[in-house]
This record gives sequence, structure tokens and C-alpha cells, in this order.
Amino acid sequence: MELLRNPRAMREWADARRAAGERIGLVPTMGYLHEGHMSLVRIASEKGCGAVAASIFVNPAQFAAGEDYEKYPRDEARDLAMFRTASVSAVYLPGVPDMYPEGYRTYVEVEGVSKGLCGAFRPGHFRGVATVVAKLFLAAKPHVAVFGEKDYQQLAVLRAMTRDLDFGVEIVGAPIVREEDGLAMSSRNAYLRGDDRIAARCLSRGLFRAGALFSGGEREAEVLVRAARAEIEGEPRARLEYAEGRDPDTLAPLSGRVGAVTILVAARVGPARLIDNVTLGR
Ligand code: PAJ
Repeated sequence: MELLRNPRAMREWADARRAAGERIGLVPTMGYLHEGHMSLVRIASEKGCGAVAASIFVNPAQFAAGEDYEKYPRDEARDLAMFRTASVSAVYLPGVPDMYPEGYRTYVEVEGVSKGLCGAFRPGHFRGVATVVAKLFLAAKPHVAVFGEKDYQQLAVLRAMTRDLDFGVEIVGAPIVREEDGLAMSSRNAYLRGDDRIAARCLSRGLFRAGALFSGGEREAEVLVRAARAEIEGEPRARLEYAEGRDPDTLAPLSGRVGAVTILVAARVGPARLIDNVTLGR
């Protein structure tokens, strides 16, 4: 497994892999890996990528002022050990000055789908995500890039960016990997202790409840969303940010009877900001 620490090293690796006729898969991460991240690596291999590159970069551009950039959990040695046990051929670990040198001034703005939901609570977040992923694509030159549906709006933003900027990268969405009690895996779950960890179940519980209603024939978007919201509002340790029903493809707001709907929720539980979602009718 090769370690590449700057854009030039990443590009040279990518050029060599392409010259050898290999398909490159890219799995971008911010590290502090869990089974959700590892599932993306497996999916990249299954998509026929003989050369899988994973990146670990806690991207300052996607954290708003006052967010957890400094506190974000980091453990490079553990992350590398995990990637070594998987089919990762190269890990890209650029430093902040490599990605954003003095005088850096270019950002990628994806309109529309970046607004609302997390975009309303995290100013500049998706601009930072789109910018860093564009830079990762240009350095790693992947044929395929895998992203989790856990970050559903992020996936929609990155699909739009990839299409609009003609990156020619196949974007693959991967199902949410959960803890046994339903909590969606996240590096930020490390912030949860004791009662907060138990309270955090309210997000997935609400989504599963909406799913059960849908299975029972309920099709009114408001009723489904209300069921998810009620579980979060009923948990005293949780502070709801949003619970919304959106079109699974466009993320346009939905109301009334729906054939398919994605319900997206965000809440603060103790020191952690948590998100989760479920798509019903697909
Ligand atoms: P990070 O939160 O580390 O997540 C890296 C990738 O893992 C993302 O595509 C995310 O959706 C996916 N992921 C996280 N938890 C998951 C879970 N429980 N199940 C399935 N997939 C999961 O998302 C980011 O980093 C950053 O914004 C990044 C795209 C790397 C840009 O900086």
C-alpha cells in the first residue's frame, strides 16, 4: 500500500495506474475510519477497480467557523492499519498547505441542491466539500468514486458537480452502514458518551418508524415525516435541526401523496451533530 502525501505524488501514481490499463476507484474520507468507510472500499473493488485509492484529509474548507475542525477525531496509524487489511492500493494523505497553499482562491459552488437541509445549518459546507472533491478527482484521476448515502445531500451535490464539470467519473452511492441498535456509523459518534449515545438512537428510530408506516400503506409525505420528527422531538437530549421529505433524485421538497420519498433528519445530541436518512418506495 503506497502512501502519497501531496498532489504531485497522487497524480504520478494515477498516471502510472492508467498507463498500466487499470481502473482507478477513489474513496474520499476524513479518516477515523469505521465499517461505513470500509464498505465503500469493497464496493470500489466490486465495481472492477483494480487500483483503489483512499484519501484521508480533514478538509478545513468544509467546516464553518465554530464547528469541530480542531476537535475532529484523527488517528492516522489506526486508519492505515485498517486500509492495509482491505484492498486499498494507495492512500492519499495531503497536508493542509498542500491542498490550500498561501494565496489559494478557487472554490466550486454547486447551486440549488446545496441549499436547504444541511446547507441551511452549515454555511459554506458544500462549497468546501465540492472544492476538495474536485481537487481529489483532479489528483487521483479516478474512473469511479464511491460515496455513502449516509451523507445523502453531499452525494447529490457531488453528482451534480461531476456532471456539470464533465469530470467523467462514475459516482457510486453506497448504502448506510449502521450499528446494531440502528445508529448510522459516523466518525462523530466518538463524541457520544453514556446517555447521549443511547439518545442518539432517536434519529434512526424515527426513520424506521416512517418506514413501517410506509410498509403499512401510508403515502402522505407529511405523515411520514411527522413520524420521524416525533421520535427526535420526544428525546429530551436531542435538539432537532430538520426533518424533511424530499424527492430521492432531485431533493426537491415533496408534499401530499408520494410514490417514493427520502426522509432526511439532522439533530444535535450532546456535543455531536448527527444526520441520517431513509429512502422509501425504491
Ligand atoms: P467522511 O465523513 O469521513 O465520510 C467519507 C465517506 O464515507 C462519505 O462518502 C460518507 O458518506 C461515507 N460514510 C460515512 N458514514 C457512512 C455510513 N455509516 N455508511 C455508509 N457510508 C458512510 O464525507 C466526508 O468524509 C467528506 O465530506 C468528504 C467527502 C471526504 C470530503 O471531505
